Amino acid sequence: MLIPDFQSQAANNKNLVVYFSHSGNTRIIAEQIKDATGADIFEICPVKNYPDDYNTVVNQAKKEINANFKPELKTKINRIATYDVIFVGSPNWWSTIAPPVATLLSDYNLEGKTIAPFITHEGSRMGHSAADIQKLCPKSKMLEGLAIRGSEVKTSQHNVQDWLKKIQITK
Ligand SMILES: Cc1cc2nc3c(=O)[nH]c(=O)nc-3n(C[C@H](O)[C@H](O)[C@H](O)COP(=O)(O)O)c2cc1C
Repeated sequence: MLIPDFQSQAANNKNLVVYFSHSGNTRIIAEQIKDATGADIFEICPVKNYPDDYNTVVNQAKKEINANFKPELKTKINRIATYDVIFVGSPNWWSTIAPPVATLLSDYNLEGKTIAPFITHEGSRMGHSAADIQKLCPKSKMLEGLAIRGSEVKTSQHNVQDWLKKIQITK
């Protein structure tokens, strides 16, 4: 069952940060974007949590991505139509977005929205995440993405700020 997310409906904001994070790195960047822009924020949570063990999740993710599997999500974003810019955050999993992010992008009609992707990684940067997001949202405008190494997220505020200026979200 999908439970409406009331937190993201509270403010009358034009920007929304949606993200999935397995081990916390992408969440840190999501919070930095929220703090720098005042955007609403929504965490993508699958009904079934991914295992904590690294090798187990790596193998599970590989199978899911190869099968184009889209896990069911716990919560629902109401009034997504009210947002103009949607920051979409994911860890780099096998050079693409994590499956729960693919579910979210498939479940909602983001036609006419502007998408700004941000990815945390351990060497592959964005991989082909941006192209994969565009495939799922063919009628959205894609802005240049931000790639941050997972081990550097805590000191990346300046990278986030520079990126937000570059894509003309902030001055
Ligand atoms: C299932 C899985 C697959 C991954 N695949 C890649 C990869 O292909 N390239 C890469 O640079 N990092 C890869 N990583 C590392 C993560 O992208 C990186 O640790 C990221 O910051 C984790 O974000 P999170 O803490 O928000 O979950 C992978 C990690 C996991 C768990």
